[in-house]
Amino acid sequence: MRKLIVAGNWKMNTGIEEGIQLSSEINSYLSKNNLPSNKRIIISPPYTHLYPISKVINPSLITLSAQNCASTENGAYTGEISAQMLKELGVKMVILGHSERRQYFNEDSDILLKKIKLALKYDLEIIFCVGESLKERENKTYFNIIERQIKDTLFNLNENEIKKIIIAYEPVWAIGTGKTATPNEAQEMHEFIRKLIKNKFGEQISEEISILYGGSCKPGNAKEIFEKKDVDGGLIGGASLKAQDFEKIIESI
Ligand code: PGA
Repeated sequence: MRKLIVAGNWKMNTGIEEGIQLSSEINSYLSKNNLPSNKRIIISPPYTHLYPISKVINPSLITLSAQNCASTENGAYTGEISAQMLKELGVKMVILGHSERRQYFNEDSDILLKKIKLALKYDLEIIFCVGESLKERENKTYFNIIERQIKDTLFNLNENEIKKIIIAYEPVWAIGTGKTATPNEAQEMHEFIRKLIKNKFGEQISEEISILYGGSCKPGNAKEIFEKKDVDGGLIGGASLKAQDFEKIIESI
């Protein structure tokens, strides 16, 4: 049975004390409310918070993720953080392909594939994000866009590698805008993505891969989106910054 997942993407938010406090609150909530083994909670704080947070959370309750890693292994790349460095910190996962990275830092599929390969080399799982822009939604090219984003990256992986991937469908027009895809729009795209994975990697892998929805997911709308057959939880931005909101979303999977 595939995992149902709620992942918090904190982006460039929270001071360090605030981040420690937030992660401790989520940790204590999870230690009081036993989650079934098919449910998984992930938090993705800024780089600077990862080490102290790794000391206050129970890794069997919360998976610690980074928001990015370098596309090169090591060397003269001022300001970059490598997959190996993350691994040494106790990080288990990394978000790659987020639309903010694609848009503001020009990360294309070639760069993303290098990052994916390095993350896998250092045994990090990956939340790989795909999503179309508003223009692509309006001119109805969104299926082609998502297909391209997946074929250029994930289709270069082998069967063992694809098992380390969680896909997040995040329509760019829904991120941080307060506008969500309808449950049916999400389901339609998730089903399409699962079919792509099935055609390339076979039925079993496509049934086991978790596909998350992201984009203005909140306590008030999470349940109706997560109820859809091919939606296996969410990647949550704004609403992951308040423990109570995040906990309510956890209760919706
Ligand atoms: P949002 O962000 O929930 O604030 O829309 C989601 C994301 O970018 O992962």
